[in-house]
Amino acid sequence: MARGKLILITGVTRGLGRAMSDEFVRQGHTVVGCGRSSKEIEKLRKVAGAPHDYYPVDVSSDDEVKTWASLVLNTHGAPDLLLNNAAIINANARLWEVSSREFSEVVDTNLKGVANVIRHFGPAMVKRKTGVIVNFSSGWGRSTDAEVAPYCATKWAVEGLTQSLSQELPSGMAAVALNPGIINTEMLRSSFGASAASYPSPEEWAHVAVPFLLKLDAKDNGRPLTVPGHEP
Ligand SMILES: NC(=O)c1ccc[n+]([C@@H]2O[C@H](COP(=O)([O-])OP(=O)(O)OC[C@H]3O[C@@H](n4cnc5c(N)ncnc54)[C@H](OP(=O)(O)O)[C@@H]3O)[C@@H](O)[C@H]2O)c1
Repeated sequence: MARGKLILITGVTRGLGRAMSDEFVRQGHTVVGCGRSSKEIEKLRKVAGAPHDYYPVDVSSDDEVKTWASLVLNTHGAPDLLLNNAAIINANARLWEVSSREFSEVVDTNLKGVANVIRHFGPAMVKRKTGVIVNFSSGWGRSTDAEVAPYCATKWAVEGLTQSLSQELPSGMAAVALNPGIINTEMLRSSFGASAASYPSPEEWAHVAVPFLLKLDAKDNGRPLTVPGHEP
């Protein structure tokens, strides 16, 4: 039996996804999550237990997401809150130095992964005419810096995709692009190096972000948002 709201989170094995999962569980909600690391997913299954549910899924694979969605929708029903959080960043490099393979991996995860999840979970939410879809953007979805062009390109695309989606949803639902702020995670350490340590931890961030996410509703549809206290 689901408790509280049903929250679907991609990328729960570390960073913001893991911190949100822990905080939603702590607040009495039911979390269904995914990530690629089977080892971390197994640990989460053991620690959180039922009704929470975690699966090894690569969001860049439409087939894997399709199978996952069918399992989740049959077991838990449509999510109340869908958090498209999973993403990767390119290793710092000028655009002409980024290999075709790395560029594709960033696009396949950050942009096509979001579309894959919406393709397979969206119809059940639309049928029910309720629910909020939050697509994780970035400060780099609204501004740019050198050496992160592939990442910036996908996050600007997430902003556009989300605006367009918000114009397609039935009234009662919402799609928002969310800039989480700057938080000390593995991703931040990749681009900021040692200075990442001066930013808040994912756990500190989740204390503010989770209540904010729980309050989102239809009136927020199409609004590009930033987690309060984490504005640029
Ligand atoms: N940290 C920041 O300061 C910051 C700033 C702006 C925006 N953001 C955004 O916030 C979100 C979370 O970032 P983070 O800092 O927490 O990153 P992170 O620490 O690197 O964690 C990323 C998570 O996504 C998962 N993931 C990556 N590729 C995946 C795939 N193909 N399929 C399924 N899961 C995948 C990873 O797990 P596996 O490796 O196990 O798959 C991991 O759990 C991202 O959308 C990021 O762009 C973060």
